[in-house]
Amino acid sequence: MPTASSANRSAANKAIENGDLMRGARNCVNGYCAIQRDERVLLWLDRNDTVDPTVVNALVTAIDETGAPLSVLRTKAPIFRYGQRLSPVEEAAISNANVLMHVFDLENAASVDNADIYRCMWEHELRVTSVIATTPRIMNSDWAHYPPELHYYMWIKSARLLCDTEAHLTDDLGTDLHMKLFPWPKGDPLSSSWASVDKKAKVHRPAGTWEFFPGGTIALCPKAVEGTLVFELLEGFAGYLSEPIRLTIKDHWVTKVEGGTEAKWLKERMRRYNNGSYFCEFAWGINPRSPLQEGLKVKAPDSLLFRRAGSFHCAVGLWPGMGVPSPFHWDGGGLKPTLTLGKKTVIDRGYFTMLDDPDVRELASKYGNPEEFLSYES
Ligand SMILES: [Fe+2]
Repeated sequence: MPTASSANRSAANKAIENGDLMRGARNCVNGYCAIQRDERVLLWLDRNDTVDPTVVNALVTAIDETGAPLSVLRTKAPIFRYGQRLSPVEEAAISNANVLMHVFDLENAASVDNADIYRCMWEHELRVTSVIATTPRIMNSDWAHYPPELHYYMWIKSARLLCDTEAHLTDDLGTDLHMKLFPWPKGDPLSSSWASVDKKAKVHRPAGTWEFFPGGTIALCPKAVEGTLVFELLEGFAGYLSEPIRLTIKDHWVTKVEGGTEAKWLKERMRRYNNGSYFCEFAWGINPRSPLQEGLKVKAPDSLLFRRAGSFHCAVGLWPGMGVPSPFHWDGGGLKPTLTLGKKTVIDRGYFTMLDDPDVRELASKYGNPEEFLSYES
């Protein structure tokens, strides 16, 4: 009679035979992480075992196929959003890797919000990918299969829109936020300091960069921010809030928090942590295949929903290397904003207008019917 663990392994192996699961895992490892056979790869897992083992096994198989040496670390990971520190064992393992891939519970996926992780990226030749395809459903999705070349084309092209530094964010819930943004340099939409794509459509990512897989967000710390911000979604809560949270922002600081029980919850945490009311992040999503219903089910909109094209999110607390120091980082956002950068409408009531750009559609057609890649999932 099979034991529970052998039954689990058997189920995992069966799922690995599913071509789509391996297709997603290979797209992550070869396409987005761009792992080379001479790189030291660290796969970091949490002991809480909330991630589907079939996904982990598929990733291990895909990494093994590259020939790169792989180490696996299993620990009780720090909670990154609350500024918890790396243990000496974690620090040593991460410092010895070129490529860190971690697969954690979605609510703890954003290690980018933690100062220790950033320090490791800056001190060592390290790039990081947080795998948020933690279930077969997401690893099998169009989003996980998305062509890396098309992703980075839209990502770099979006970043290059930051040449006019005036931004205005509005929505029907009352958001009315004015920001000044630092500019990105002009240039090729397939080559940037963050990532580039060569003539063979292969991605190159330098050390010091951090990404979600699957991804799809432009995120930045604004130079200046003022106005009203309304969250209909908040990290830590599944689906739409019982009552939207209304934040008043003055000169980068949240001066008022209004709403229901979720607003009280956020306000209490902002008070508890040093500089917890500093407005540190503005971001918008660029991938239309990020699944809406899956995203609404989980308590981590920052992982799934805020990658979706045309969404926005903002955060308070720490933005490593800019703003003010804080152990805290917390995100909230919405799905139907209008965003203008100078005179350009980047998002029109939740629709990411770049999806209609002729050059984007032409690049998408290289991979099949452009509608498959540029229309919204569900
Ligand atoms: Fe964030």
